[in-house]
Amino acid sequence: MYTLNFDTAAFVKDTWQKKPIVIKNAFNAFEDPISADELAGLAMEEDISSRIVQTKPDGWNVIQGPFEDYDEYGENGWQLLVQAVNHWYPESQAFVEAFRFLPDWRFDDLMVSFATPKGGVGPHIDNYDVFIIQGEGERRWKVGDRGDHKQRGGDINSPLVDDFEPIIDVVLTKGDILYIPPGFPHCGETLSLALSYSIGFRAPSQQELLTELADALIDNNCGQHRFTSNEEVANKGQVSQAQQQGIMDLLAQLANDPNQYQTMLGKMLSQNRFELDINPFEQAISSVDVIEAIEDGASLQRVGGLKILSLENDKQAQIYINGEAVNVDNIESEIIDIVSNEHLICQSVLLNWKDLPAVITLLTLCVNQGWLYFAE
Ligand code: SIN
Ligand code: CO
Repeated sequence: MYTLNFDTAAFVKDTWQKKPIVIKNAFNAFEDPISADELAGLAMEEDISSRIVQTKPDGWNVIQGPFEDYDEYGENGWQLLVQAVNHWYPESQAFVEAFRFLPDWRFDDLMVSFATPKGGVGPHIDNYDVFIIQGEGERRWKVGDRGDHKQRGGDINSPLVDDFEPIIDVVLTKGDILYIPPGFPHCGETLSLALSYSIGFRAPSQQELLTELADALIDNNCGQHRFTSNEEVANKGQVSQAQQQGIMDLLAQLANDPNQYQTMLGKMLSQNRFELDINPFEQAISSVDVIEAIEDGASLQRVGGLKILSLENDKQAQIYINGEAVNVDNIESEIIDIVSNEHLICQSVLLNWKDLPAVITLLTLCVNQGWLYFAE
């Protein structure tokens, strides 16, 4: 059981997205949710995104996984980072749950790092909020203020920034959290063999939103309105201020009409950046099979990292699962809440649903897609 021992409501009000902070002993008696050996094993898998960063005298050297063995890296000066561990290691979900005081749509992934002394990824800025939780070992973190930080060595393609003046300089030990909002430069240095955990949250950029919106409009052959006016100005070579505004208002119309944006938004926000461990049923099962499985004692477990979202005041009866819109006509909102909130739906709950055809149809679809699977 992972329970945060600080006031999460006060954190959201005063700190979230505003300023970096250190929370010492944020978890009591913290137990690492994964071992270094298990992490090293995950980084050997093709489908799992991993990298090793070596600290060199002249900078940092990044090697992309998968890895066959780690002997060549020695005892010092490197760090293994594995993304989306929650997708591949179901046992880590209990740890991720502690951060569900923030909504699922914002959650990116659980990244786990194994670092040897002097290992680190170098000073950088992230465009997401991150909670860095220290497990085994000790790491020293410096965090600078937001500002005009230059890319390291003037290289515009470098993810690294120049050294900065720290506003936080702290050694994290087991159970401590460092929270960093987007835009604050930070740098970790490893003091002793360490496992640490990054819980990341992000929100879409205007660029991403417009790309998704454009794709959705093209797919659905919508968004064909054009600018019209009933008065034109005399100045031939100029676009008037009113007309600039009128043209751009076409975009505002889309942004203000839930019928135009809701499905796009639901699909977009329920999608994952990293691959999921989805195995669709080879031979589709029927509603009858699902009812039988429930009667035989099965619960339904969500695939690690899968997002099931609903939109408040949705114009259509839909939920959004892993980038797809799914019809939920004739399903009451209490049931939709359970499906979208719970990672495990127990048999005792499912038994109440077995005579509700629309719910069974939804669950059958989820099982056939590989989104939910039967668990004892
Ligand atoms: C790390 O654990 O060193 C990387 C995490 C981060 O900087 O966001
Ligand atoms: Co970072």
